[in-house]
Amino acid sequence: MAQCTLVSGSVALITLHSPPVNALSAVVRQGIVDTVGRALSDPKVKSVVICGQNGTFCGGADIKEFARPMSGPPLVPMIHAIEAGDKPVVAAIEGIAFGGGLELALGCHYRIAHAKSRLGLPEVSLGLLPAAGGSQRLPRLIGIPAALELITTGRHVTAAEALKLGMVDQVTEQNTVEAAVKFSQGVAGRSVDACRLSARPCPSPPDLDALFEEAMQRVRQSARGAIAPVACVQAVRAAATLPYLEGMEREKELMATLFNSGQARAMQYCFFAQRVVGKWTLPNGARWDTSKARHISKAAVIGLGTMGRGITVALAQTGVSVIAVETQERQLAEAKQAVSGMLERGAKRRGGASPLGLVHYSPHLQAAADVDLVIEAVFEDMALKKEIFHQLSAVCKPGTLLCTNTSGLDVDCLASKTKKPELVVGMHFFAPAHVMKLLEVVYGPRSSPEAVATAMQLGKRMGKVSVAVGNCPGFVGNRMLKPYMEQASFLLEEGATPELVDQVLEEFGFAMGVFKMSDLSGLDVGWRIRKEAGQTGPGVPSGQPMRVRQGRRYSPLADLICEQGRFGQKTGRGWYQYDKPGGQVASSDPWLHSFLEEYRAQNGLVARRINHQEVLERCLYTLINEGFRILEDGIAAMPQDIDAIYVFGYGWPRHRGGPMFYAGMVGLARVLEKLEHYHQVHPDVPYLEPSSLLRRLVASSSPPIQRWMQVNKMSQSQL
Ligand code: NAI
Repeated sequence: MAQCTLVSGSVALITLHSPPVNALSAVVRQGIVDTVGRALSDPKVKSVVICGQNGTFCGGADIKEFARPMSGPPLVPMIHAIEAGDKPVVAAIEGIAFGGGLELALGCHYRIAHAKSRLGLPEVSLGLLPAAGGSQRLPRLIGIPAALELITTGRHVTAAEALKLGMVDQVTEQNTVEAAVKFSQGVAGRSVDACRLSARPCPSPPDLDALFEEAMQRVRQSARGAIAPVACVQAVRAAATLPYLEGMEREKELMATLFNSGQARAMQYCFFAQRVVGKWTLPNGARWDTSKARHISKAAVIGLGTMGRGITVALAQTGVSVIAVETQERQLAEAKQAVSGMLERGAKRRGGASPLGLVHYSPHLQAAADVDLVIEAVFEDMALKKEIFHQLSAVCKPGTLLCTNTSGLDVDCLASKTKKPELVVGMHFFAPAHVMKLLEVVYGPRSSPEAVATAMQLGKRMGKVSVAVGNCPGFVGNRMLKPYMEQASFLLEEGATPELVDQVLEEFGFAMGVFKMSDLSGLDVGWRIRKEAGQTGPGVPSGQPMRVRQGRRYSPLADLICEQGRFGQKTGRGWYQYDKPGGQVASSDPWLHSFLEEYRAQNGLVARRINHQEVLERCLYTLINEGFRILEDGIAAMPQDIDAIYVFGYGWPRHRGGPMFYAGMVGLARVLEKLEHYHQVHPDVPYLEPSSLLRRLVASSSPPIQRWMQVNKMSQSQL
């Protein structure tokens, strides 16, 4: 709701009340319409100030209302009525003015912001555009280039930047409401004609066409198939080229298209998924007791390779003091330099002091004796990790939490090497660890709720999306990646090229196709693991062809190219060739194409034309199928966990909502039918066999994703 009080005898102070962020729900809108209407017609009132309770102006629309039929007064006429009034209306912005909140402020005649407030139009990140006049008023206030940038990226600005851009009239470090009241008294009685943004012409640079063309190109390139950023450019173009009212019509049309698109639904689902994974539900429906989380002020990182360096940086940037341990002298020296560089660049970007002093280096494990938590990031070698956990258990003080950054090894097995297995959990970061948002927190059967809660909480402090997952080879993300990569390799055997497969996946919206991604992460890592596990070389059992392992189809292509010393970007050759070792510019490699032809000839495989649909379905549906198995096995508590993992850690396009949400969009029956078809064609590929949860969901008329786990539970209890 919104309450109005008369202050200083002539100022109507309207306060939005709707915790936690004063979202513009139906009752709040009604409250604004009523109070503004009364204030404008009350002769005692000479000016109006709008503010939000509890130091927050307004977080924007109430997203929960998107799914329901519209009720209450609409936003556009409400804002228009404020702007059209004759008495000056001042927005007192504290905390945040986001989305509809900023649009409300743009409808006011003046804006006063607290120095610590942030302003922005983040609609694009929910698959929408600012459709309460934001796309028409902001360009009129700050010019087209700046408005285009803010609206197409959804970026927030600080009050200082807002002042520079001309978005606000004044920034204060004092009480914002008092400053706004005083300001409003100063302008009371003056004409507000010039302050109505809708009546202003849009400042038009001479090279308008070129500017929009360039913006459209930039947006199309980075949007990876998302339509909202494109619609945002079109809306701003309308502001620049049409009269205000026609621009508003265009804004409305574009919004309707976005609103009804599956993309907006997918992005809103992601928004809620990110929140629900933070609630840390367990597969059995229980929740971790967050109050049990311990505060971590001192941590150790063991192994300063790619991951250890990133983790050290992420911890120090969170204010945790770090003992960084590396046994190789050269690595240690290199790591010191790399970590310091990253910390300094980070501090420069953020504009704060570098937390360099928080990091101390040592070649000895003993240096970790008095830390609260250890994150081990040595080579992916079980024997080595076991030895380190055994030593850590002896070296560290009794309550120290011992975490591993393994990509998929058995966390419980490591726990068994320690005196207190309940204090062992996985903290699986993603490269580069100081940048990537995802953290899989792996709980073993013996991990204590306190240990898991602490790891989850620390992840959150580091700005990560922490997702609690069960312990199994590859956990959630990498376990699902395996069948996906396997299909990609089979497709090469059958006639596809890495270029074709990557093109299809990138057109779908992945940041990078599977082969480019493998080249980037290094092909040798998986190869070493397969070699150690005895999976490479001749077929198993012996006498079987190389392409068969225990009756299952196996593709040795990655092993064969590793044998040629082609490890990906790091060696300048992999599935592609690169400009130089370590280079990032991939180009087609004729060697690889003739290698594939020879391989097919040697193995009696006849290349066929493979269409885009088959590439997409085989790669994605096997990945999704494994997701269903993960839900069945209780490794993830709910589909939202899997989707958050893929969106935040694996470059899955947000506008497609994550793999499990996408399956629902495609239709579970269709996914099932396609898997059945491909499994019939390839009976020696178990990953193509539809999971029983998928079958049961289809048999239960494919309920919405929020009800999948009920179906899972019901059918499990009937077993
Ligand atoms: P890396 O090979 O870059 O670094 C490992 C470091 O550990 C090396 O500097 C090595 O000298 C050091 N080390 C070995 N034994 C040690 C010991 N006893 N004490 C202290 N330091 C020791 O490996 P990377 O890529 O950083 O991987 C580390 C772990 O993180 C592995 O378990 C890996 O599976 C996992 N991981 C890797 C990801 C990646 O993208 N590279 C992503 C997520 C997890």
